[in-house]
Amino acid sequence: MTLRAVVRGAGHYLPERVVPNSEFESIVDTSDEWIRTRSGIERRHFAAEGQTTSDMATRAARAALDDARLRPDDIDAIILATSTADLTFPSAATMVQANLGMTRGFAFDVQAVCAGFIFALANANALILSGQAERVLVIGAETFSRLMDWTDRTTCVLFGDGAGALVLEGARGDGTSDDRGILSTDLNSDGRYRDALYVDGGVSTNSTGVLKMQGKEVFRHAVEKLADTAHRALDKAGLGPSDVDWMVPHQANLRIISATAQKMGLPMEKVILTVQDHGNTSAASIPLALSVGRERGQIHRGQLLATEAIGGGLAWGSVILRW
Ligand code: UT7
Repeated sequence: MTLRAVVRGAGHYLPERVVPNSEFESIVDTSDEWIRTRSGIERRHFAAEGQTTSDMATRAARAALDDARLRPDDIDAIILATSTADLTFPSAATMVQANLGMTRGFAFDVQAVCAGFIFALANANALILSGQAERVLVIGAETFSRLMDWTDRTTCVLFGDGAGALVLEGARGDGTSDDRGILSTDLNSDGRYRDALYVDGGVSTNSTGVLKMQGKEVFRHAVEKLADTAHRALDKAGLGPSDVDWMVPHQANLRIISATAQKMGLPMEKVILTVQDHGNTSAASIPLALSVGRERGQIHRGQLLATEAIGGGLAWGSVILRW
């Protein structure tokens, strides 16, 4: 018997305010048509004034706990993937822990930008397989609207806010790729590409900063690296693209998603798409897509999911899991 980290519950939260592409037409020199055709984005949600990442993460966490029919004290660890924590410290994860009224276990943030949820899942998997935790709440939550340069049309139209969460639980499987749960992970980063996507400020430089991106450069890396990491992760699980029921990609750009699906030989009917409604929510995009995909009736128990993401670092990776 092999221990696996199995999904027991999922949930998400999107802030009330929906911002259609047309709203940007009065802020920068852009058009709904440009944003739709270049990125696939039609609208995104923005957090309300005063609403923080830990607020949204807590709501997504509560939804995932309800779905799993568990109480906060049933959880051993919280891992929150975010690049937009409320404060420099303590971690947003410990704020979620307190908001949930959870008085045991431990909580920490993971920062791998848009690949954050993949890195958080891999860490949760390692905690469960090593016996350090039986149940882990894995959250991706972001308020990227706070990092925007509202005069830069090449970036401000692309991002959105939101949160998604999974409850993972250790369960015994047969040790085959038919087992439910995380079957393999593949993590990568290459800091030489730090200038491709970054925020030009931070604590040790005494500034706040805004997001800067060389869009074309990131696009090129994404198309090359995403199919690569997903293939590697599938290979580690002894599986291939034809075994995949759903590709659940980071939702940054529809053209990147379709190029990756094409490279993997997967039809778009096998891809969970939320980019049109959420924009790029960084570390929140994959858990949002998982929870929304399940809610839409697309994702079912026992199906094989290939998740993949890339973002600032550059950092990228893939997790293969059977739902
Ligand atoms: O989540 C982390 C990973 N991030 C990503 O995956 C994002 C990767 N990059 C992309 O998604 C795309 O590169 C973008 C959507 C950012 C840009 O699409 P593109 O097809 O690469 O466009 P481009 O940067 O080559 O720009 C084409 C033209 C330029 O004008 P010129 O130089 O051809 O006259 C831009 O100035 O479009 C112009 N442009 C815009 N026009 C209207 C750039 N942004 C806008 C805009 N509205 N918002």
